[in-house]
Amino acid sequence: MTSEREIDGSGRGRFERFDLKPKVAGMRDEVLEGLARTPKALPPKFFYDRRGSELFERITHLPEYYLTRTEMALFERHLPAIAKALGAGFCLVEYGSGSSRKIRKLLERVRPAAYVPVDISGAHLEAEARALYADYPWLDMFPTCADFTRPFDLPPPVAGLPRVGFFPGSSIGNFDPPGAVDFLVAARATLGDGARFLIGVDRKKDPALLEAAYNDASGVTAEFNRNVLRHINDRLGADFDPDAFDHEARYDAELGCIQMFLVSRVDQVVRIGDRTVTFAAGEAIHTESSFKYAPHEFEALAQSADFRTDACWTDSEERFALFLLRAG
Ligand code: TRP
Repeated sequence: MTSEREIDGSGRGRFERFDLKPKVAGMRDEVLEGLARTPKALPPKFFYDRRGSELFERITHLPEYYLTRTEMALFERHLPAIAKALGAGFCLVEYGSGSSRKIRKLLERVRPAAYVPVDISGAHLEAEARALYADYPWLDMFPTCADFTRPFDLPPPVAGLPRVGFFPGSSIGNFDPPGAVDFLVAARATLGDGARFLIGVDRKKDPALLEAAYNDASGVTAEFNRNVLRHINDRLGADFDPDAFDHEARYDAELGCIQMFLVSRVDQVVRIGDRTVTFAAGEAIHTESSFKYAPHEFEALAQSADFRTDACWTDSEERFALFLLRAG
């Protein structure tokens, strides 16, 4: 582990980075491997270059994308209860660090003893953490570059503090259910006995509402989906024509999940570096899944990773649920 001590003294919090050097597979291998599968697939993490992150930020403001708005309102409404349940003097561990609006809400009210944002992308983590540190200089921050789908060591300065995990945005839904259990088991190991975990979960609902959330009228989600092809063009010298693919989002009621696809409009051959990939007209690339849970289903899933439910807050339209879990 490498770390860098930056600031000390006079009412300011500490800012220290920790790099656990997560293994990152090469983008080329992962892309070619995904496109060699039947059906074809691309890893969702490649949505997020600079343009992808901007498009996703726009998605969170769309009228059809109720998730961010509903979760924010739940935070606002239940912050007093959340603060009371969490108490004081704990270390807040955020899984992924892209939720600036939500973490700000929380930091302002609960004032943790330390904040540990965790992300596999060191550059992204650093930029987000710096921006936050500028606005919350009293906070001890220990950004940690790690693969959070596995257990990892928390930074030494937070040893002995009670732990609270934070995973908003229904990001847990982007794992399939066995993957979500694996993630929670890993988080349980990282956070330890007695830890709490605050986690946002999108609920099952009318498929028309779900499909609209992932296929907005203004086409931002379609551009976001196609952006993965632009990103691959930029990084791997590929020649995808993003406009030769249609965006599709379908709710599979059996699986309880929204699946996003890019569907080839024509028969085409795409070059990726020194390789080619053939698409038939109508052939789909699976780009993302977003699983939805009834509250009792999520409670059972958490239980199988040895978390029990201390509280579950939900909105009057029963769209979204905010769970407070406890380890052991
Ligand atoms: N976890 C969120 C969700 O499933 C965010 C997200 C991931 C998303 N990939 C997406 C939103 C693609 C829209 C489109 O909703």
